[in-house]
Amino acid sequence: MCGIVGCTGRDKASDMIIDGLKKLEYRGYDSAGIALLERGKVLVKKKEGRISNLEKEISGERFTATTGIGHTRWATHGSPTDVNAHPHTSQDGRIAIVHNGIIENYQDLRKKLEKKYGIEFRTDTDSEVIAQLLGVLYEGELESAVRKAVKMMEGAYTFGAIAQDEPDKLVAYRKDTPLIAGMGERNCFIASDMTALLKYLDEIYLIDNGEMVVETPDSLRIYSPDGKEINKKPLKITWNQEDAERGGYPHFMLKEIHEQPKAIKETLARRIGRNGKIKLDGIHLTLKDLQKFNKICIVACGTAYHAGLVGKYIIEQMARIPVETDVASEFRYRDPFVDEKTLFIAISQSGETLDTLMSLREAKNKGARILSIVNVVGSSVARESDDVFYTWAGPEIAVASTKAFTTQLVCLYLLALYMADLKGTVTKEYYNSMVSDLKGLPDKAKRVLRKEGQIESMAKLLYNRDNIFFIGRGIDSSLSYEGSLKLKEVSYINSFATAAGELKHGPIALMEPETTVIALATQDRLYDKMFANMEEINARHAHIVAIVKSGDKKAKTVARDVFTIPKCRDELTPMLSIIPLQLFAYFMARERGENIDKPRNLAKSVTVE
Ligand code: M6R
Repeated sequence: MCGIVGCTGRDKASDMIIDGLKKLEYRGYDSAGIALLERGKVLVKKKEGRISNLEKEISGERFTATTGIGHTRWATHGSPTDVNAHPHTSQDGRIAIVHNGIIENYQDLRKKLEKKYGIEFRTDTDSEVIAQLLGVLYEGELESAVRKAVKMMEGAYTFGAIAQDEPDKLVAYRKDTPLIAGMGERNCFIASDMTALLKYLDEIYLIDNGEMVVETPDSLRIYSPDGKEINKKPLKITWNQEDAERGGYPHFMLKEIHEQPKAIKETLARRIGRNGKIKLDGIHLTLKDLQKFNKICIVACGTAYHAGLVGKYIIEQMARIPVETDVASEFRYRDPFVDEKTLFIAISQSGETLDTLMSLREAKNKGARILSIVNVVGSSVARESDDVFYTWAGPEIAVASTKAFTTQLVCLYLLALYMADLKGTVTKEYYNSMVSDLKGLPDKAKRVLRKEGQIESMAKLLYNRDNIFFIGRGIDSSLSYEGSLKLKEVSYINSFATAAGELKHGPIALMEPETTVIALATQDRLYDKMFANMEEINARHAHIVAIVKSGDKKAKTVARDVFTIPKCRDELTPMLSIIPLQLFAYFMARERGENIDKPRNLAKSVTVE
């Protein structure tokens, strides 16, 4: 959602900030702005729409400022206009701020500021109260004003601030949304996301809740909530700049789909030892722990939730532990049955999804053991978990999640198998052959990707359909939900997914000649049942696209198009059958001319409810 970048140092701040903001575009935004300490004054430029609008606005300006802050805004309070865009300034224009999050008591604060100080608010945003508060509290030292202001605010408020009277200083504060800080050779930075700073920094500091960062061109200081300076250990950045660039692909989504073999390999390599044994390294999960757990709760949102649905099948099947998978926005409000006998697994690419984070806290308060599967190192979900299982997918830039999903699945397979081995619920033969099959996945995924042209041709024929259905049984039903989400997200085609066994209980009423149905039939155990479902749909003259294992001779008797994935055991098919579904969504969106990497109304990281 919103993005923050700030810097102070020796180089031109406007260039570094705009460059950083562009790297944050993927998070979703609808306006952008920048504030600079330019020739002794706070200078603000902000524009509705894309960063290119802001660039146009400032083209021709000869900025010299070396301190500034910038922001990409995803509107929550107040429509996405030039005025509501960040940065916001105090009444006297001497202080500017950029803010991520929501100030819950902004209306109260606003009234008080209006009444007591005669402040005239200029915007409809909650964020402006931060600038106005700092303005009335400022007595010559920005960090003191920040300390006083945060005592009065409620909600989530990570912000960066600059003051005209302190030309080489940048102050930032974190409450509930991410903040990182770092010191390069010539400049110091703050940002809400490390992708903004890959070009400038090798290591960063992860700022925790209640901490304040004070930067000057030569110093970076971090203060604890009680005001003491603290020494933090920096975190080495493992992502590089190229990972966050398109590298010749027309879209990040296509690049990331193609990166899956590498990402799967990477995630596996870090967890399977030379002896073929799964090692969870820092994760301390003993047989005694497992005997204590009477259930596992997997909680996540969107695509990560769909990975959790697959997780339920595989953990229950291999480790024989009951698993409940829930969407975080439901879990956190339903007073769930969770206690110290629960293993709570949070899945999140960004590690910043608010509902997932809040669910984690709810489970933690109730005594559950918290394990998370996360892509972004040092993210909030990761930091608040007892154990973290990192996916090694590299930065995922496209809003539509692809390689995060497959690597989340890899973690779930490894975890399921590890627990099954500890509990003795699988044989040695099963364990060894599963490990060997997991290692074979990157090559099989490459084979699927080589058939991308088949999906592209299919999309050229089907792209103008109004409705597309996805069905499957068992583990394939989870995949049908993910395939459907992917399609609607990037192509805006109405799509519906259901467990195929549910068709007769309602959805079959929607089947008519030419209705398009993507049918996943990769499960040997359930094949006959699934085939019967396809026959029923075919009898209504629907257009079936079947996804089956190679060697299948039957599907073509009912399906108009058949896409085959390499043969593999039933449990592992999601790793391969998701690829044609991702490609289908991509090519459908491309044929329709949609903004694939930044679909309308969506943000990469959903840090508000
Ligand atoms: O960062 P997270 O994995 O927690 O994000 C969860 C969802 O917001 C995310 O998967 C979303 O559904 C994607 N846009 C799907 O492609």
